[in-house]
Amino acid sequence: MGWCPVSRLKPGAVLQEDVRAPNGRLLLKKGRVLDKKRIMVLKSWGVTKVCIDELCGNKENKSTELNKELISSLFPSSALQDSLTQRIVFLCFKWLNNAGKQTISQFINHKKYQKISIPKKLKISPEKIVASQKKLCSFSAIYKKMMEVLNDPNSSAQNIGEVISKDTSLSAKLLRFVNSPHFGLVQKIDTVSRAIALLGLDQIKLLVKGIIIIDNFKNLPSDVINMRQFWRHSVGVALMSSIIANTKVGLSREFFFVAGLLHDIGKLVMLMAMPRVYFNIMLYGKENNLPLYEVEKEILDFTHGDVGVILAKKWYFSNSLCEPIKFHHEPLAGTFPEDIAIVYLADILTQLLLHGFGGNIYLPLINKEVLTKSEIDIDSLDLVIGTFLKQINTIETAFL
Ligand SMILES: [Fe+2]
Ligand SMILES: [Fe+2]
Repeated sequence: MGWCPVSRLKPGAVLQEDVRAPNGRLLLKKGRVLDKKRIMVLKSWGVTKVCIDELCGNKENKSTELNKELISSLFPSSALQDSLTQRIVFLCFKWLNNAGKQTISQFINHKKYQKISIPKKLKISPEKIVASQKKLCSFSAIYKKMMEVLNDPNSSAQNIGEVISKDTSLSAKLLRFVNSPHFGLVQKIDTVSRAIALLGLDQIKLLVKGIIIIDNFKNLPSDVINMRQFWRHSVGVALMSSIIANTKVGLSREFFFVAGLLHDIGKLVMLMAMPRVYFNIMLYGKENNLPLYEVEKEILDFTHGDVGVILAKKWYFSNSLCEPIKFHHEPLAGTFPEDIAIVYLADILTQLLLHGFGGNIYLPLINKEVLTKSEIDIDSLDLVIGTFLKQINTIETAFL
């Protein structure tokens, strides 16, 4: 961070202080990413120097080069001509400290399965996949009982509070989460009933369901992908979705947290039901520069979203929560595209920050229409990513 003469500013620098004109008028707020137009504005108002994240153009040259490397390793080559994709990659890359040289495909386990040629069209349905994993998709006796209480519309707040409190590990996780900096609560919450009173019964029910589902799926074998990295990706998308939702008025952080947490749950069932095929679907995507969901569509005629939504319905999640699970790769196809767009973007940002690994190696171009329709302000994303990086460790400790 330092002061840079306006004459030497390069697009992409981030303001570390508010910028005022010589007459005191506020021109640009702290956190804004400078582009050519904004630099022109500064010049036309006679501003001579501004405080930015890194001195003058030093970083830009280095990062432009590494951006290209990162873009080519994650996106189709046309991304190098796509300004929105480049802008978002740049926003993420600024925080990475050369991590662009890492490769996320290291999290695939190549030891157990061999490359095989998979038929172009496999005759299997998402329903059959879920049905084949009965044990995996159902809960242990104790969680089954708890899910029944959570899903029962007649359960009272007191009743639910008592059931959650009886499970010390679950209630400890819940309290650790609601006391994390993400919620920014002034007073420490030390009982489940207080958490319900402060955050609301519906929000607590959602969070508890999320914790139960992670516990249920967390210890699956890492035959194809590294499961810890898979959950780091899911928790990352959960936190990122929740932070983006928080930048908008009237959206529930807890809803978006759980939507993000479960967005890829269908992949887990597919990985368990057909590991050899799924391993090869991933390899095919890697070798042909295709996003995983496009390969799934090509080979299976359905995606992990279609599998995930069957589970979400089975667990009595609302329609609005089922949608981001089903359509997080195609937000415009859903009934609530604005909501789905948040999880869509959170998924992309988490992958660009190379946080965890959800099985996807290639990303499609970032869809401008999705971001415009959902009125997501790209300039606000710099603060979103900064907040994410500050909070993610505490959230991971609470959940994983
Ligand atoms: Fe996905
Ligand atoms: Fe994902």
